Amino acid sequence: MLRGIMPLMRILGIESSCDETAAAVVETGVRGGVKLLSNVIASSVDLHAEYGGVVPEIAARSHLEHINPVIKKAMKDSKTSWKNIDAIAVTNRPGLGGSLLIGVMVAKTLSFLYKKPLYGVNHVLAHPYAAYISEATSQTGIFPTPTTPKFPVVALVASGGHSHLILFRGHTDYKVIGRTTDDAVGEAFDKVAKIIGLPYPGGPSVEAEAKDGDENKYKLPIAKTSHPYNFSFSGLKTAVLRQAQAEIGEDFRFPSHMIAPRLDSRQKADMAASFQLTALETLVKALERAIAEYSPATVVIAGGVAANKKLRELTANRLEKGVTYPDFKLCTDNAAMIAAFAHYQIAGGVKADHLMTLEAHSSSEV
Ligand code: KG4
Ligand code: ZN
Repeated sequence: MLRGIMPLMRILGIESSCDETAAAVVETGVRGGVKLLSNVIASSVDLHAEYGGVVPEIAARSHLEHINPVIKKAMKDSKTSWKNIDAIAVTNRPGLGGSLLIGVMVAKTLSFLYKKPLYGVNHVLAHPYAAYISEATSQTGIFPTPTTPKFPVVALVASGGHSHLILFRGHTDYKVIGRTTDDAVGEAFDKVAKIIGLPYPGGPSVEAEAKDGDENKYKLPIAKTSHPYNFSFSGLKTAVLRQAQAEIGEDFRFPSHMIAPRLDSRQKADMAASFQLTALETLVKALERAIAEYSPATVVIAGGVAANKKLRELTANRLEKGVTYPDFKLCTDNAAMIAAFAHYQIAGGVKADHLMTLEAHSSSEV
């Protein structure tokens, strides 16, 4: 392969690791860009709302129901026939076991049926690849993406299941340099939302509530970890719980699910704003330290929390080089990032997985 010239390919991506059943077709350009041809997502988020978090059995049942129609629609929207699909990429780790299994089984079946090479993709590593995707139309096959990340890349993946700092020196040369030691940051948004009575998922609802709040009202702790690029969010979540109990005149024994009805709207807004600022500061501070150490050419923030506008404002003000964010709709789980990641792996010489041996792994190890 000539330097800088990538194979022109169409890749079908499939994602089912959590509560989104997704399929997408991307086309890859000769100089490396990735163009989005279709992006279909069926979310079971509403089914989980009454439980305040994802229920694995409900998620798996919903994937079963949606996966075939979602793939069909992704193929149709992309105006691609099976003949023109060059590879199938599927999330095979990490995630909910039963949910992953459905995507992997369907991908294997399609790979067998249509004789397409199959690539198992790590969901966490794929999140930053949402930033490589462009929707620009081009007749040339060169999809100009002025924001295409350049190596070395420091990527922060901040979502409901993961909070990882990853250093990419190349597409196939990466290492995790930091991670949460307990809860993921999105999970902390979800739990705090539950305490103060906001709907699931907590990220968007805390962000909306925080708009009218005083972010300096409550002094909440930024956890210190022994490793400079690690984060911790469980202490922050407990600090919000204690503050909320104190606000209504109760002590630590008062059940968290009975607090919300006794908080007034000002208290809720101030708590949402103070929590949001502290959680995001935790991320930005770790990023600042990693940037000082690794001098990346590009910093990428991806994952559901990257959709947060306050985070975008904080990084714009604080990080000199700026941050490359994926398009808003590609921050949360999608299959386009899975296909995009697979493209760069293929271009980097990674071989297809064996149909009979590719397995789903729920473990969060990257
Ligand atoms: O990437 P994602 O769709 O799924 C995982 O891989 O986990 O991320 C979902 C998480 C949820 O915890 C949700 O509350 C959070 O991302 N999230 C946000 C925002 N939008 C979604 N957190 C903060 N602000 C947002 N605007
Ligand atoms: Zn995700």
